[in-house]
Amino acid sequence: MERALQGNVTCLKQENAQTLSWLGHPETRFTFDHIACEMISQEKLFKVAGLPMVENCMSGYNSCMFAYGQTGSGKTYTMMGNIHEIDGNLNDDCGMTPRIFEYLFTRISMEEECQRDEKLRYSCKCSFLEIYNEQITDLLEPSSTNLQRRYGERCIC
Ligand SMILES: Nc1ncnc2c1ncn2[C@@H]1O[C@H](COP(=O)(O)OP(=O)(O)OP(=O)(O)O)[C@@H](O)[C@H]1O
Ligand SMILES: [Mg+2]
Repeated sequence: MERALQGNVTCLKQENAQTLSWLGHPETRFTFDHIACEMISQEKLFKVAGLPMVENCMSGYNSCMFAYGQTGSGKTYTMMGNIHEIDGNLNDDCGMTPRIFEYLFTRISMEEECQRDEKLRYSCKCSFLEIYNEQITDLLEPSSTNLQRRYGERCIC
């Protein structure tokens, strides 16, 4: 039926690195800072979106990556991908998270080495939270469910 109604054709067209068109009626254009094409490799996407984020962090700014989309749209693929290492190296198909952490810790080692005389030390903290049905769970301590939100100067939600 989709074929008969010509409903199986692509409904989006990427015009350039900033513009996307919805080919419906009326045709609608959307503009973004950057659009990665659907065939982009995990490595290239990391270079475009992940690496600058780590560099921002190294310069003292906060960074946040937010994956949003309907089910099956590729959030887990983009953020995790294939995380199975090959001979101790990242898999070619691994996603943002392992690439970001590998790059972050390499940069930290480089900076600490370069600024050895100043005894520069970096401190990393990690939290892993799930927000589901308006309930917050600490995934590193799953027994602590229904955590409370507290807003403060440095609270990131
Ligand atoms: N860019 C891509 N290249 C190849 N395969 C992909 C790509 N994006 C997604 N996939 C595949 O499509 C399927 C659905 O993707 P994924 O599981 O990442 O969706 P999701 O957005 O996390 O969905 P959900 O919201 O249900 O968790 C998976 O089999 C994934 O491997
Ligand atoms: Mg998923």
